[in-house]
Amino acid sequence: MPRILIVYSTTDGHTLKICQRLRQAIEPSGAQVQIVSVSDADGIYFDDYDKIVVGASIRRGRHSKAIHEFIDARADQLAAKPNVFFSVNIVARKPDKNRPETNPYLRKFLERIRWQPGLLAVFAGKLDYPRYRFFDRS
Ligand SMILES: Cc1cc2nc3c(=O)[nH]c(=O)nc-3n(C[C@H](O)[C@H](O)[C@H](O)COP(=O)(O)O)c2cc1C
Repeated sequence: MPRILIVYSTTDGHTLKICQRLRQAIEPSGAQVQIVSVSDADGIYFDDYDKIVVGASIRRGRHSKAIHEFIDARADQLAAKPNVFFSVNIVARKPDKNRPETNPYLRKFLERIRWQPGLLAVFAGKLDYPRYRFFDRS
């Protein structure tokens, strides 16, 4: 049975919900999915898994420091397995910014990290109009 590790970084839990939804979608195929917060990922041994997925949300224009540190420390191990990175942000709600090639946060992130993910995805962040109205200008 293939084993898939999903490491995530979240602030309000939306990225975790996306991970859980991914697990629901993947597990019927027979794969086993383990979801681990980046804050608990230090002791995780990648050799126990066949594929690695990393997901993180944007806060004030940035992915978390924790996810940067994790990727920096594990870039070589990540590259050694089939791997995926996904970003969660509000700007991805815009049709012209909702793909890996067009999402500005993902493009910037890829320039900063020394891992080149094998597969990329962007998911629209949770909308909370009263709190996030200013993102409409992005
Ligand atoms: C304080 C705050 C700052 C945010 N900054 C941005 C931002 O700069 N750009 C953006 O596209 N989304 C931004 N968002 C939206 C989040 O990326 C979105 O709500 C996402 O679903 C949060 O996921 P999480 O709960 O896993 O952290 C922000 C949200 C909050 C609450």
